[in-house]
Amino acid sequence: MQRERSALPRVYISRKVPPEGLDIIRQSGQVQFELWDSDDPVPRSELLQKVKGVDGLLCMLTEKVDAELLDAAGSPNLKVLSTMSVGFDHLCLDELKKSRGIRVGYTPDVLTDAVAELTIALLLATSRRLIEATHEAKTGGWGTWRTLWLCGYELANSTVGILGLGRIGLSIAERLKPFKVKKFIYTDVAPQPELAEKINAEYVSLEELANQSDFLAVCCALTPETQGICNRKLFSQMKKNAIFINTSRGGTVNQEDLYEALSTGQIAGAGLDVTTPEPLPTDHPLFKVKNCVILPHIASATYTTRNAMSALAANNLLAGLRGEPMAKELKL
Ligand code: DGY
Repeated sequence: MQRERSALPRVYISRKVPPEGLDIIRQSGQVQFELWDSDDPVPRSELLQKVKGVDGLLCMLTEKVDAELLDAAGSPNLKVLSTMSVGFDHLCLDELKKSRGIRVGYTPDVLTDAVAELTIALLLATSRRLIEATHEAKTGGWGTWRTLWLCGYELANSTVGILGLGRIGLSIAERLKPFKVKKFIYTDVAPQPELAEKINAEYVSLEELANQSDFLAVCCALTPETQGICNRKLFSQMKKNAIFINTSRGGTVNQEDLYEALSTGQIAGAGLDVTTPEPLPTDHPLFKVKNCVILPHIASATYTTRNAMSALAANNLLAGLRGEPMAKELKL
């Protein structure tokens, strides 16, 4: 027998979600939902209003889930939080752990390929100066063929350093291997022998990672330990020919220190898909240095992946509300 609509659990969805996810929720008949039907984030005040008394919240990485929001939702109504992201630094875990009994779903794995692909694209765009090159070609800077004009750095025979060897770091390394990388090194909170074995990567200290890497890719989660881990000290230990790539979270980087490293030639270039804040103001100094390529947080932006993320987020939400195991649940 169909339950009365008003008896169904209430869910708030904080953004226009790709169709696969929305269809799953709609067709489940399991919840009544309200959606912030926009590509832009829901204003905080609206969110705080809308979450009052809901059983479930499906949110994006732009929504800070903290004590204020959890209090607004009210206990014990809110049972499930499902974020359409692999990153969960926007969730205040300490608050969620505080015996509120809320279960949390997230979307790892389904975006690994897309993020790894984009990281390779960004790395090559940065190291081979593609953005500068197209600009020169379009604006008359292209004179004749010149011997050292727009030269960059190649992956062949290089050492690639991975800061945070998880699923994404591994996928990046696997894709870089055919470019004839000489050596992979990595650092993390602890050695990851099973993953490292697949790419024959050596575990090193953060200092050694900086010292040895020709390409350094940041792939770690943003935590209190990794906040600002890429700072003046790290950049000063890097090679002058090094290329720095970040597709994790902007908060891992001290941007003032990065600007100094780039503008003084301390390192050769940086490719960033993530910044602090997002969007990065258009007058930010990092936009002014030619050796910095900045993308607007698009690593997972393929139709397939964003749909898969929305489907996983929807299924996590519904499973949680049924009291069943979620496909991907965060251990709080
Ligand atoms: C995530 O999911 O955390 C990514 O940063 C966005 O795709």
